[in-house]
Amino acid sequence: MSIIEDLERQLSTTYALRTPGSRALHERAQRVMPGGDTRTGTFYPPHPTFMERGEGSELVDVDGNRYVDFLGNYTSLIHGHAEPRIAAAISEQASRGTALGYPSEQQVALAEVISARMPSMQQLRFCNSGTEAVMNAIRCARAFTGRRMIVKIEGGYNGAYDAAQVSVNPGPHTPPYPTGVPEGPGVSPGVISEVLVAPFNDLETLTWILTRYGRDIAAVLIEPVVSMAGMLLPDVGYLQGVLAAARAVGSLTIFDEIVTFRLSTGGVQGMLGIEPDLTTLAKVIGGGLPVGAFGGRAEVMAVFDPRRGGTISHSGTYNGNNATMVAGLAALETYGVDDVAMLDALGARMRAGLQREIDERGVLGCVQGVGSLAHVHYCAGPVRTYRDALRTPRATSRLTHLGLLLRGYLVAPRNLLAVNTAMTDAEVDGLCVAFGEVLDVGRDVFPRIGVGSAMAGT
Ligand SMILES: Cc1ncc(COP(=O)(O)O)c(C=O)c1O
Repeated sequence: MSIIEDLERQLSTTYALRTPGSRALHERAQRVMPGGDTRTGTFYPPHPTFMERGEGSELVDVDGNRYVDFLGNYTSLIHGHAEPRIAAAISEQASRGTALGYPSEQQVALAEVISARMPSMQQLRFCNSGTEAVMNAIRCARAFTGRRMIVKIEGGYNGAYDAAQVSVNPGPHTPPYPTGVPEGPGVSPGVISEVLVAPFNDLETLTWILTRYGRDIAAVLIEPVVSMAGMLLPDVGYLQGVLAAARAVGSLTIFDEIVTFRLSTGGVQGMLGIEPDLTTLAKVIGGGLPVGAFGGRAEVMAVFDPRRGGTISHSGTYNGNNATMVAGLAALETYGVDDVAMLDALGARMRAGLQREIDERGVLGCVQGVGSLAHVHYCAGPVRTYRDALRTPRATSRLTHLGLLLRGYLVAPRNLLAVNTAMTDAEVDGLCVAFGEVLDVGRDVFPRIGVGSAMAGT
């Protein structure tokens, strides 16, 4: 057994001893759910942690263990758990009906708030997940342009719709661009004839693809900071270049701001003062309830107008349901410029603190991110593309996740972190201390500056 396998086994054993209730529930769950889980991203061995309740910045599991939650349901809970104003809005709405099944003033109000924050979303519609938002934005682009193909970014996760499930986690030896690979079994193999793939931060390759295939390309789908691949930050001028290159061939640009909306009161587009043709949102705008939204220029979004002939059918039993609308309104009412600034400061403290722990120990690593978001890479920075990010041995991310979990801090197994407004410096400083301890425990396995990793490929 290698050193890393041995350490992982030790940590897993300690975790299993601390979480007998989760283990029992996972065993029970396996009888009715494949793998005992209902969300691939929340599974980790030996068994996922079953949570019982959330309070502000903390989660409590079924065994009574408390965790500071640096994930916040994968960046959606900008105010932490059970925020009193959101909880009150939901319970008040619950007593009046959660899903009346008809248009409501609440839908109009939330659409107005979003449109005011993101002026490029002149018109928008609601759905129930980011996946649906991306699906509808793609359909919209196809219907508006009369073209069939899209370009997406390698390593970008834009939800579970087939056209987005291309080259999300391709292996290091995947053939060159622009041909992508379906993400897994069940994704239509035919999708690769309609979805081309470009590397992030590489305007030259994107321009080449657009020049070569432009007349068939309905849209370029891009997350302005690629969160899944490890908070890849756009080079100065890159996003403006993407918009210009797409426009030059008559293609639309779809900004997936499902994660990045939180980076200002109006997402990355608000920070940079740029306007994509279409934008997709989810997570934060639902105040902790299921949500998605997509929107853009009025003339583009007109393809959903039921008064016109030949428009896109966009249905959904819970689209714009009352409970989600009031929760979203409450979340955004309490997420203004000052809140963004407070989170930016907290996020900067987190990134600097984690990086300090790395540097003090001579570990090869870089903490990348912006605003309230961070990602720990165990390789030299900056990490500009998905292929750069592949240099982090996966086992180091797993170890960090498990080591922090045992110390009462929750981060994504892939080492994504997010702060929320329920947190203070104390939680962030505690996280950094715990992270230092994890690096100490794994001193023989984390890559060192000048030495590299003993675990390349693991
Ligand atoms: C950037 C991005 N796009 C789309 C999605 C899909 O959103 P949902 O999980 O609500 O379907 C996610 C989810 O994590 C995401 O991070």
